[in-house]
Amino acid sequence: MRSIVILTGAGISAESGLGTFRDKDGLWTKYDLEEVATPQGFAANPRLVHDFYNARRANAAGASPNAAHEALARLEAEFPGEVLIVTQNVDSLHERAGSRAILHMHGALDRARCARCDHRWEAPLVMRPEDPCPACSQPATRPDIVWFGEFPFYMEEIDTALSQADLFVAIGTSGQVYPAAAFVQEARMAGAATLELNLEPSETARAFDEARHGPASRVVPEWVDSLLG
Ligand code: OAD
Repeated sequence: MRSIVILTGAGISAESGLGTFRDKDGLWTKYDLEEVATPQGFAANPRLVHDFYNARRANAAGASPNAAHEALARLEAEFPGEVLIVTQNVDSLHERAGSRAILHMHGALDRARCARCDHRWEAPLVMRPEDPCPACSQPATRPDIVWFGEFPFYMEEIDTALSQADLFVAIGTSGQVYPAAAFVQEARMAGAATLELNLEPSETARAFDEARHGPASRVVPEWVDSLLG
């Protein structure tokens, strides 16, 4: 086996204290997705959207990587082939655990972007609608986050990696958001073995060759240990 592609979702950060979206008490039970995670919501009320992401940025800054993030960093360091993490998460817990090859397909909380000129920079802890873009001075700054109705980032790189993967692993994701939910099919069609590691069977569980269910802080280190021998 030479190439492993790992898709992660909110479930891998749950035990670091960051809420998931669709579980009981998840973020989408407390907030209206249309209001805080769409371009239309941002146009209607940018302050509400900034406040939502400011709160999430503060939570993420106070969180630490857990044993699952750490196991994936160890896998990248010790596996003789390629390990790529494709994450739907906007926190930086994979980086802070020591992983290097990471694609943030839904963007990142610690990045800001100008909706006018597309300039990107490091996000301050608190963003406000009136903040000027450092490049063009327009008050058009937004979180560098992919909202519903927008195209995820790095799709070409992800498709290439999936087409060359020998093993595809999905960790802590409900399999309800596309295109990420279709990666398992894409990897299978390209000949990869597929494995789900999740608290419970996801929406797409049946599409995987194998599944191991339990908290990420247990099942991910166990899987990494078994792979590295
Ligand atoms: P979800 O909240 O939809 O799913 C989280 C998954 O993690 C569920 O299947 C849980 O069973 C599982 N889970 C919970 N705790 C776990 C634990 N301790 N160990 C392992 N698994 C656990 O989150 P995502 O699938 O990441 O997008 O959601 C995908 C996208 O929808 C997000 O990136 C976000 C959201 O709307 C945008 O905001 C664009």
